[in-house]
Amino acid sequence: MSHLSFEQLLQQEKFSRDDLAKMLTADEENTLKLLARAEEVRLTNVSRNVYLRGLIEISNICSKDCYYCGIRKSNKNTYRYELSSDEILSAAEFAYKNRFGSIVLQGGEITSSRYTEWISTLLKEIKNLSNGELGITLSLGEQSKETYEEWFRLGAHRYLLRIESSDSCLYSSIHPHNNLHSYRNRLHSLGLLKEVGYQVGTGVMIGLPGQTVDQLAGDLLFIKSHDIDMVGMGPYIEHKDTPLYSRRDELAPIEERYLLGLKMVACLRILMSDINIAAVTALQAIKPEGREMAIKAGANVIMPNITPGIWRNVYKLYENKPTISQNDEENLAQLISRITAVGYNVQLDSWGDSLHFKGRK
Ligand code: 5AD
Repeated sequence: MSHLSFEQLLQQEKFSRDDLAKMLTADEENTLKLLARAEEVRLTNVSRNVYLRGLIEISNICSKDCYYCGIRKSNKNTYRYELSSDEILSAAEFAYKNRFGSIVLQGGEITSSRYTEWISTLLKEIKNLSNGELGITLSLGEQSKETYEEWFRLGAHRYLLRIESSDSCLYSSIHPHNNLHSYRNRLHSLGLLKEVGYQVGTGVMIGLPGQTVDQLAGDLLFIKSHDIDMVGMGPYIEHKDTPLYSRRDELAPIEERYLLGLKMVACLRILMSDINIAAVTALQAIKPEGREMAIKAGANVIMPNITPGIWRNVYKLYENKPTISQNDEENLAQLISRITAVGYNVQLDSWGDSLHFKGRK
């Protein structure tokens, strides 16, 4: 057992699972110390910079059936869409003209050759319309090594694939039990992405039914031991058209999941000082200022949604996903001024690659 005070605990260079669990269960007073330490580590290592990625939700058609997700295959209560190439390219152009620096193409998991070839064509076109300047992150699930290689060759340089939970038992309690949803395959895909040369992003959901603080501490150590470059993690938010909704009475109040999400960001920043951490939308879904709070807690990436307005409400992973009625340009200016107001600098026209990745290369 550690005899350290909370302050001493925070100053360590190495953190055990127990240390992290302590940090995640900090009371109000210690939470403030945790957040302050995370901010200090952030300023020394990744400065006040915040990078933008314009998020384009290209399709909500998915072959998977994850128990928590609103766009799971078996959910018959959602309208399925796939953006046209023109819609995607004009969103990319919007990001380029508004100096976002980079975009994320995110969608349900589809592995057909029609689909993977379509993505390849899009990658070429996006590189063309931006003179090769727009950075491209993909978030399109588990694919073959050949597909990952092809997309990398065509200019995608970052890939997000959340492990969802690093605890294989918890993982299997929130997914169907078959090959398509196997923990081992997911882990294997993360390895492939790294082999191919991507900057690799992963993440977990926080506050899942049956999840313990000890498992969350394990998630943080997983991210560290897999030498991950970028992380997006946020509170689990129940969706009524999913199987996991039946376990909603096991959940902590949403405010607690929100706070735990912020603490996870702070702990991760302390644990991995030079990675990219996203201030995720799920935090904003709970509190309007959620993303700014995550930035203060150590996050340095923000992913404004630039999916064409009519489709944005249909890509519903969870309930109360923020929907934006104002036009995007006005919104971007507001976002920048909100980030500036909390003391951080939005870096336009920049890929904002993870410093960790540069060190790892
Ligand atoms: N609550 C919070 N996050 C969710 N995701 C999917 N469903 C939910 C939910 N109900 C997250 C998963 C997935 C990412 C795209 O969205 O972590 O990887």
